[in-house]
Amino acid sequence: MQIIIFDDAQQVASNAAEWVAELINKKTNPVLGLATGSTPISLYKQLVTKYQTGQLSFKNTSCFNLDEYLGIDEGNPQSYRHFMNDNLFNHVDIDKGNTFLPTCAQGQNPREQGLAYEEKIKYSGGIDLQILGIGANGHIGFNEPTSSLASRTRIKTLTQQTLSDNSRLFDKDEFQPTLAMTMGIGTILDARYVLLMATGKSKAKAVQDMVTGPLSSMCPASALQMHENAIILLDKAAASQLEDQNYYQWANVQNLKINQEFGLYHNY
Ligand code: F6R
Repeated sequence: MQIIIFDDAQQVASNAAEWVAELINKKTNPVLGLATGSTPISLYKQLVTKYQTGQLSFKNTSCFNLDEYLGIDEGNPQSYRHFMNDNLFNHVDIDKGNTFLPTCAQGQNPREQGLAYEEKIKYSGGIDLQILGIGANGHIGFNEPTSSLASRTRIKTLTQQTLSDNSRLFDKDEFQPTLAMTMGIGTILDARYVLLMATGKSKAKAVQDMVTGPLSSMCPASALQMHENAIILLDKAAASQLEDQNYYQWANVQNLKINQEFGLYHNY
């Protein structure tokens, strides 16, 4: 894991945007994995700005989102399709036909839908860079604690903690889905690079468990310890429970020196 600690959430978003821009500008047909939630909103804002200022084109990019709620359709403002259109896709030159979420409409077989999503990712050539947030309970995507570390795209029942963390986004009388389709942890681990963004004190314990805790289904994000290219972007508050902060800062200085000498090398 490469742990990079920034002063604030804005710097986390700027650095994440640099990673995305580097991939898109380098690869002919880049494949991005995307997340919803509060954390990546400022990343998407920066990507839109890069597009508007001519620094980035999404014309040849395909995107696969981590998850989508069950029981609401894509026209519903609470759907993750709506979130993605609103925060990114409607504002850049991406072909919406190349943007995918793991949906399962009423009457569709979730097992078949999950398999089809896995196939679609494979057929695209696989995800080059997967953007992740982290739940206060350590979830990535909607892989809640006790999810198999080898899981693939499927239905998950959301935990009470996730439901209450996300209830801030729903009106009092609004239907809040309790089920979602989500990429599995195995699906996420297949991405060539994973870039996890975490900001704010409420994420500090989950970050500590992910980075220094045991590899455990009780903290699904700890599976990233097994990933060859996991980059963890944190603000100071999210990093506050990590003991070895000086080491991470020092290691990053060394990485920058190597990059300066030999050039940036990302094996997409
Ligand atoms: C969203 C997702 C979730 C969120 C996580 C953090 O697609 O997969 O794992 O990344 O719940 O959410 P925020 O950023 O709202 O704290």
